[in-house]
Amino acid sequence: MTSRRCLLQVLGAACAAAACGEATGQSEATGSWPAGNLRDLSGLRPVPGAPLVVARDEGGVYAMSTICTHQQCDMTTDGQVSATGMHCDCHASDFDAHGTPVAGPARAPLRHVRVSVAADGALTVHADEVVAADHRVAG
Ligand code: FES
Repeated sequence: MTSRRCLLQVLGAACAAAACGEATGQSEATGSWPAGNLRDLSGLRPVPGAPLVVARDEGGVYAMSTICTHQQCDMTTDGQVSATGMHCDCHASDFDAHGTPVAGPARAPLRHVRVSVAADGALTVHADEVVAADHRVAG
């Protein structure tokens, strides 16, 4: 819980990440990651074992990092991923479903990476291949 991690933050005082037990400084995913099947994808869905989400909107399928752009906490372990966005517990940044920061200290958008869709609908996220935030794959 955020309040357990950093009581000083709740009180409005400065809080060094190390003193609060925050997992800042996490690394971006590398390599390719299986991400389930297209048929049951709506909103944002975490990719098992990697700091990534795969998602679908009216434009198609896309994937992005869950590493917060403020101080690199992984929001799959230090935050929440919902169908409509992500929250970072480390310092309370919020990102919308497209990775745009909407609240908190984070100012940069989340990193988008390529996702591919196989003929049977299997999704693979290619974490090393950064793409534009509006990049979509038909699905
Ligand atoms: S690491 Fe500071 S808000 Fe996410």
